[in-house]
Amino acid sequence: MDGFRHSNSKLYERACALLPGGVNSPVRSFGSVGGVPYFVSKAAGAHVWDVEGNRYVDYVQSYGPGILGHANPATVRAVSEAAGEGISYGAPTEKEVLLAEELCARVGGLEMIRLVNSGTEAVMSAVRLARGATGRDKIVKFAGCYHGHSDALLAAGGSGVANQGLSGCEGVTAGAVADTVVAPYNVVPEIDDDTAAVLVEPVAANMGLVAPADGFLEGLREACDRVGALLVFDEVITGFRLDSGGASEFYGVRPDLWCFGKVIGGGLPIGAFGGSRELMSHLAPLGGVYQAGTLSGNPLATAAGLAVLAQLGSGAYKRLELLAERLAEGLEKAFASAGASAVAPRVGSLLGLFFCADPPRNFDEAQAVASNGTYPRFFHGMLQRGVAFAPGPYEAVFLSTSHTDADISATITAAEEVAREVLAESA
Ligand SMILES: Cc1ncc(COP(=O)(O)O)c(C=O)c1O
Repeated sequence: MDGFRHSNSKLYERACALLPGGVNSPVRSFGSVGGVPYFVSKAAGAHVWDVEGNRYVDYVQSYGPGILGHANPATVRAVSEAAGEGISYGAPTEKEVLLAEELCARVGGLEMIRLVNSGTEAVMSAVRLARGATGRDKIVKFAGCYHGHSDALLAAGGSGVANQGLSGCEGVTAGAVADTVVAPYNVVPEIDDDTAAVLVEPVAANMGLVAPADGFLEGLREACDRVGALLVFDEVITGFRLDSGGASEFYGVRPDLWCFGKVIGGGLPIGAFGGSRELMSHLAPLGGVYQAGTLSGNPLATAAGLAVLAQLGSGAYKRLELLAERLAEGLEKAFASAGASAVAPRVGSLLGLFFCADPPRNFDEAQAVASNGTYPRFFHGMLQRGVAFAPGPYEAVFLSTSHTDADISATITAAEEVAREVLAESA
């Protein structure tokens, strides 16, 4: 088969010789599930093919950007056209204005944004802005939430930080985290007037999927208002995925600052943070909080983002939610019919998968389930049957509008077989 000339294990060997762990982002390694990662050679819609020619139904979707599936034709066209007009200018463009207009039109209260190159940059910059605007130092984050890899925010992080068994991170100085307070998710923390910001994933999607308990987000809003702290929603995953306006619209709770990424760049590197005109005016060149980027607002990334958002109307969100509902029910039933426990908590089209009876409510509970040893067996059983979930128990399951009912049915059939296999092994 043309183009499928390699073997995963040989490429992995070459990769490991030159790239630490063979990957450029730890979450892609098979560190927590064991074995050799598949190396992708191409992708289309709901599917990826590895270099050996194996096809997988893909629930990774680049960890979120692929909301329309891979190689979405309108996005590919927009990116190629943009590339033909020049790849980066170092001067403002119309597409940056159009993307800002589109984002602000969808999210109530979002009045101004700054485009950056990743979710990490978005959150890191939002924290700097919060500190600059309030004149305070302390930030509160929640255990199991992942906000990218900036020093101050790695403490008790979910996703790859948890996946690799790292409790914190070597190389992060005590000074860098001295003003970071970590609280348990789903409990409104006591905060006082030295707090600059409370930073939260409104739906925690980096410790598996943990939904906010009733009143949690409202409680954070009240606590922040009481002491004059800023509430920051990290919507890098939930933004424009949960709903047209993201989690703040979905739950009807408005933060002071939003952070975005993933979906808004359609797979090209991008991030954004924003808030009210008054708050955003603290940013240079208007104010004294410096933030910058050679490639920020890149013409290819903005072209891709605009093409993706143009296809994300109410029909797309309804379809995503229906697919998610079928998948969540199917996975739970597959395990129940084999006599094993699995729960697939779902918010909109975002879902998680835990091998236990009741959905975890915080990181301690998620960790206890993740360490029960079932996930690696589930993961490899599914991969052998042509279905790719993330290689770690702390990631969300990402659906796209390209997934079909047939993809979901094939996934559920595979899960039924894997559930019986897992149970037989445990017996
Ligand atoms: C909620 C959240 N915030 C921030 C980030 C960091 O984004 P990036 O990987 O683009 O730097 C991620 C990445 O997965 C995320 O899930």
